Amino acid sequence: LKKITIAIDGFSSTGKSTVAKMLAKELEYVYVDTGAMYRAVTLYAMRKLFIKDGHFDKEGLIRHLFMVSVKFQMNAETGIADVYLNGENVEREIRTLEVSNFVSQIAAIPEVRKLMVQKQHEMGKEKGIVMDGRDIGTVVFPDAELKVFMTASADERARRRYEELKAKGDEVSYEAVLENVQKRDELDTSREDSPLVQAEDAILLDNTHTNIEDQFHILLQLAKDRI
Ligand code: C5P
Repeated sequence: LKKITIAIDGFSSTGKSTVAKMLAKELEYVYVDTGAMYRAVTLYAMRKLFIKDGHFDKEGLIRHLFMVSVKFQMNAETGIADVYLNGENVEREIRTLEVSNFVSQIAAIPEVRKLMVQKQHEMGKEKGIVMDGRDIGTVVFPDAELKVFMTASADERARRRYEELKAKGDEVSYEAVLENVQKRDELDTSREDSPLVQAEDAILLDNTHTNIEDQFHILLQLAKDRI
């Protein structure tokens, strides 16, 4: 059986990672959450105080990028790779609203993107990969055999993210989550380097009214057609 590359891009909280993981499991492919990589760099910037009291020392972060190691390592319990920042599993810390509120600024820095894209190329060179993010089908793997672009209404996306954070015990308001989702989409689509945009040959999936199971079956069929 031929191995392919599957690129899943789209707006924040469209459930990209949920279906991407299901797809990777079914096909026995590697799953890579590229958002987790930008989140890990953001956590580094916060911890090293390059981000403090609303001020961001961008040049300071760029100078220290050589000290940032972002890696994935399989979690035997979940069967999915967790993200590690300088050897520490930060899978949980990167999902807070605080990180979400800064990540798009960090992801707009060309030096950061260059470093992350290098790692992404490395991870995908053998194919047999499902990668989700914002620029996978446009910049990282423009030759991917299957490209999907996911969207849903902002309200629905915020509601899903809010439920997710609440279930984890995070004290957040729906309004704060909605604001974050909208702000990130705005920054991600308007940045100069690798903006969020649907690739010409990507299949658009609006899942405002489609459940996860149905989305999974749609994507699985699209993948099988290409294998
Ligand atoms: O996918 P997730 O919502 O975790 O991504 C967090 C942020 O990381 C996005 O809002 C975006 O700013 C950035 N990102 C990116 N390129 C990717 C993946 C994520 O710029 N390929």
